[in-house]
Amino acid sequence: MEIVLSGIRSTGHLHLGNYYGALRNYIKMQDNYDCFFFIADLHSLTTHPHPDDFHSGVRTILAEYLASGLDPDKSAIFVQSDVPEISELYVLLNMISYKGELERTTSFKDKVRQNPDNVNAGLLTYPVLMAADILIHRANLVPVGKDQEQHLEFARVLARRFNSFYNCEVFPEPKAFNFGDDLVKVPGLDGSGKMGKSEGNGVYLCDEESTIRKKVMKAVTDAGPTEPNSPMPEAVANLFTLLGIVSTQDTVDHFKESYNNCTIRYGDLKKQLAEDICKQTLPIKAKIEQIYNDEEFLKRVVKRGTERARESAVATLREVRKAVGFRSFLGFDDK
Ligand code: TRP
Repeated sequence: MEIVLSGIRSTGHLHLGNYYGALRNYIKMQDNYDCFFFIADLHSLTTHPHPDDFHSGVRTILAEYLASGLDPDKSAIFVQSDVPEISELYVLLNMISYKGELERTTSFKDKVRQNPDNVNAGLLTYPVLMAADILIHRANLVPVGKDQEQHLEFARVLARRFNSFYNCEVFPEPKAFNFGDDLVKVPGLDGSGKMGKSEGNGVYLCDEESTIRKKVMKAVTDAGPTEPNSPMPEAVANLFTLLGIVSTQDTVDHFKESYNNCTIRYGDLKKQLAEDICKQTLPIKAKIEQIYNDEEFLKRVVKRGTERARESAVATLREVRKAVGFRSFLGFDDK
């Protein structure tokens, strides 16, 4: 069975874009692949979160993952820092990663521009750590968004480079998993572009009903169509896209018709949209809260997931150490 792996950083909360754009596909994949899903807490250290908030950030994303439908009976669900083999592989991969190629990474250049006072080495080698995440499980398929494709390409480069450098065949080349037609681009509420964590234009799975209503009612629109069958401005088209994601076809058709004959009232559309978003997210929100507070359940889930992840990681690292030439005096590399 092919191995699927993906990770998410432990910052902030999951929003509708994460849910419909990524998570729903992870959930479907669980039945057809050997899946590993993890919380990338080491990656989130690049921005220096306060230690007092660190654990709750991990716990939050974990609870949101599980509430959304990731199933510990099907997938290995774990926290990156609980698998020390990842960090060891990261060190070894750093030796065959070059400063020049890392400096050319788009996400690095963006971060340098945004935060010139915090250009740490962890930021520079972020793609090396991500490659270690993927290669430690010899994953074949990595479901990620467009913004991660360059990182994935680098993971492929490192897989090839390691194999040829050490004359071995330890690593397969991981491919981006393409959802094809199933890939939903969820727009934001601010009139343009997609929903994002840092854009402040999102609806979160953990939002209260009143918050969702407020956000949706404030969404950008225009003065309304004056001619029948007018083309839609992007902001309005985005609301229809959202409606298409959370509402029934009848509802979408109803508002399309009223748009086309110029009787549409955006207030009504937004009210319906808010209601239908709530219908989808409020049950998840309730689960998030229940899971977040169920320490025993979280422990059980992570224990199982980590056991599976470490089993796979230890097996890979054994071959890696052999290829590099380690032969520990303490017998770590025996057998
Ligand atoms: N870099 C990814 C992001 O920001 C998160 C991530 C870390 C990841 N390691 C990974 C994704 C390994 C896929 C595979 O979204």
